[in-house]
Amino acid sequence: MAYSIAIDGPAGAGKSTIAKLLAEKLGYIYVDTGAMYRAMAVYFSQNHVNPEDEREINAAVINVDITIEYMDGAQQVILNGDNVTKLLRTEETGKMASKTSKYGAVRSKLVDLQRKLAKTTDVIMDGRDIGTTVLPDAFAKIYLTASSDARAQRRYDELVAKGQECDYQVIKEDIESRDYEDMHREISPLKQAEDAVLVDTSDMNIEQVVSAIEKIIEEKKAVL
Ligand code: DC
Repeated sequence: MAYSIAIDGPAGAGKSTIAKLLAEKLGYIYVDTGAMYRAMAVYFSQNHVNPEDEREINAAVINVDITIEYMDGAQQVILNGDNVTKLLRTEETGKMASKTSKYGAVRSKLVDLQRKLAKTTDVIMDGRDIGTTVLPDAFAKIYLTASSDARAQRRYDELVAKGQECDYQVIKEDIESRDYEDMHREISPLKQAEDAVLVDTSDMNIEQVVSAIEKIIEEKKAVL
């Protein structure tokens, strides 16, 4: 049986950084489900699909084929035969993904792919609905969060370090509006699964978060 660990939480809580480090330590495969919603968004943008029109979205989803490959341990997202991994992290793609991830046709296609991946391999999967919907029987479930101030500050520091001009208040408002959209959509909204352990990283560094989650996993294993 394959083991799975679900890490859910709002944007900017550090899910992917933490999940990647844990996957390396534990020898699991890291599955970034946000990247799949972003790849779908790339298709919609490239094909001028109106994100407000569900009928257009439903028709477009039929033409989308997304698969996952690993290159030196790093997840690659293949969209209709093209590796689009490098296109996924832009602001525009993030906004399109946020608008289109609420649709049933988008979600069911990606949830199927995510479940298939977890069936055969030990995975650490991060997203918004992993513990609640995708892998309700996951071996361990973590709800990773942080205050919107802490998340905005981290994002601000990241952009400043890259030499980009940015406005703290705009970043914070963007984070809060994404939280609202993720938490209030009809299908699989972001919420803590009943059996998930809450880890608030507002006042923790990366090493502290990784060791807190390792401890949670060890405690789970101890009662197996
Ligand atoms: O985690 P991220 O920023 O890469 O996610 C991009 C978008 O996809 C985000 O707006 C929320 C959505 N998403 C989702 O609805 N369900 C998931 N399991 C993962 C991401």
